[in-house]
Amino acid sequence: MSKRDFKRTTVTAALPYANGPLHIGHMAGAYLPADTYVRYLRLKGDDVAFVCGSDEHGVAITLGAKKEGVTPQAFVDKYHALMKQAFADFGISFDIYSRTSSAIHRETSQDFFRKIDAQKLFVEDTSDQFYDEQEGIFLADRYIVGTCPNCGHDRAYGDQCEKCGTSLSPRQLINPRSAVSGNAPVLKPTKHWYFPLDRFEGWLKEWLLEGHRHDWKTNVYGQCKSWLEQGLQPRSITRDLDWGIPVPREDAKGKVLYVWFDAPIGYISATKELKGADWEKYWKDPDTRLVHFIGKDNIVFHCIIFPAMLKAEGSFILPDNVPANEFLNLEGDKISTSRNHAVWLHEYLRDFPGRRDELRYVLTSISPETKDADFTWKDYQQKVNSELVAILGNFVNRVMVLTHKYFEGRVPPAEELKGTTDKRKKVLAVYQQAHRDLDQSVAALIDSLENFRFREAQFQLMNMARTGNKFLADTEPWKLAKEDMDAVGAILNYALMVVGNLAIASAPFLPDGSEAIRQQLGVDLTTASRQFWTGKKLVEPVPAGHQLGQPVLLYKNVEDADIQPQLERLQKPKIANVEATANSVKPLKPTVTIDDFGKLDIRIGTVTAAEKMEKSDKLLKLTVNSGLDQRTILSGIAKQYTPEQMVGKQVTFIANLAPRKMMGIESQGMILMAEDQDGKLRLLQPNEAVNPGASVS
Ligand code: 2FM
Ligand code: ZN
Repeated sequence: MSKRDFKRTTVTAALPYANGPLHIGHMAGAYLPADTYVRYLRLKGDDVAFVCGSDEHGVAITLGAKKEGVTPQAFVDKYHALMKQAFADFGISFDIYSRTSSAIHRETSQDFFRKIDAQKLFVEDTSDQFYDEQEGIFLADRYIVGTCPNCGHDRAYGDQCEKCGTSLSPRQLINPRSAVSGNAPVLKPTKHWYFPLDRFEGWLKEWLLEGHRHDWKTNVYGQCKSWLEQGLQPRSITRDLDWGIPVPREDAKGKVLYVWFDAPIGYISATKELKGADWEKYWKDPDTRLVHFIGKDNIVFHCIIFPAMLKAEGSFILPDNVPANEFLNLEGDKISTSRNHAVWLHEYLRDFPGRRDELRYVLTSISPETKDADFTWKDYQQKVNSELVAILGNFVNRVMVLTHKYFEGRVPPAEELKGTTDKRKKVLAVYQQAHRDLDQSVAALIDSLENFRFREAQFQLMNMARTGNKFLADTEPWKLAKEDMDAVGAILNYALMVVGNLAIASAPFLPDGSEAIRQQLGVDLTTASRQFWTGKKLVEPVPAGHQLGQPVLLYKNVEDADIQPQLERLQKPKIANVEATANSVKPLKPTVTIDDFGKLDIRIGTVTAAEKMEKSDKLLKLTVNSGLDQRTILSGIAKQYTPEQMVGKQVTFIANLAPRKMMGIESQGMILMAEDQDGKLRLLQPNEAVNPGASVS
């Protein structure tokens, strides 16, 4: 981070698209680190505006609405409410969660456009774009699919081939089709406004590559550098859509602002809504620090395009840091909304009521800060049980229970321990070591938070609890209780001091656990907490003589039975997905010539015998009279046809397919089948019986 002193901080978290519920990938990517950071800033008394909201424009929204048969507004209303609730339930403490379909956002975005337009910075250009005549819409690059000119993948998108990673433009696709209707699109001229990103290249290189070489994360800096080195092009910032913010120009009727133009401006409109007349301080005062929390897919927008927009507008501050995270995977596989391979936040909160700290803890401990990370339910269980329960919860509980046992819950005085006996000498040595360790942990914890290293920061928090446990184990107050109650009192006084510091230090990470510790201690931590976070050192929040509350276990173990249903649920979508894929008509394969077709020898045969293949629920072993011979053909139709049903049936098969061995048996051909959208297989038969060996052409 820059080492300047700022008066306040504006923290933004990426506006999530209002087209589906939130999952743990969203949380780990942007919202949890942002929330942890903001909680920390607030605890040290900083002036912070933490803004977010739903991103409600764009083609994905209009298509989603279409699919659900509702208006785009009704569609975003539904998801906005769902996401807002899930964020609140998970304890993401936005100062405002706004939305981009609001009037204030429309005005703010249009003003922003006008301000740049007035400088005649936008470039107008008319060009041919793909148009879906059936749907009556121009197609965004993502909604054009076709064959990749590089690798031949037949579902490449108009902006990128996901198979080989090549970045594409729609016109490079072979055999382009509309992803909306499946039809071949036509080219139609349309006029758009372009933001001249190229004109900001020099400035960006200086501001970003020179200015943030040392304070931005290497994953962020590296991505920006490679973008800037490739050279920047003007980017169109208008679209032909009927959902979005109208372009504020007389000659742009029917056009709206591109979603990525208005979305980041959403941070500004949300701040306006939050702060009223005071908003400008948070966006225009050079003493304000602007920090964007995002996932890695948003880096270019937040580090290059939005700063250039802000620079062009002219009156705004620029981001001081953009601590973007990499991606979170789930059980070794990419999180996928369409495949339902995700842990949905609202479902987690429903299935694990009162256990949001647990998810926060695990997500922070695997936070994909420098590389992609993997969430697994087993790891979740293990981390909760062996860390939250066994280290933090256990330490707090032991101290509380021991104080109740030996001092009726009253904080014993911090008698100065003189090293007069061997045991006391040992306690003193242990205490001094513990104190050094704790001091180090506190310093490292705060330094890590300052530098957006949240997993390290939380690790240091747990180190404090580890030190506490070790302190108890090494001083063994339960043994001393028989001979030296002053020493026991001194030990527990110190241990309670550690518990109090844990209540404070855990607050940015584990808000519920922190509050539960505070309640058990029965103290007000406001002043001590401020001292801790600003002074960056241990404080004494639990005065001697104070009566503690009752011990309550902070966290409980996650049982196998708790995670089993989650694991099972994640298995299902894989099966459902097979059907989902089958549900859509398969895209066309690349064109073949008549000569290619002529190479296939397709014939009709009659099945003379059939049996099930052992150890396979799909394959039948058929004996087919091909007119030329009796041959064995294995066919994956056992789910649709029994062996009895097959005998006597005429089938269509490829007679000259190279023999293939399956499960130890050689298959001499392939039975042709129709597969419908539900994945059901049906034999292809002549509509009247023909002689075996009849050829198909
Ligand atoms: O990737 C996304 O989910 C976008 N909706 C993020 C927008 S961030 C900002 F610019 F609003
Ligand atoms: Zn490809």
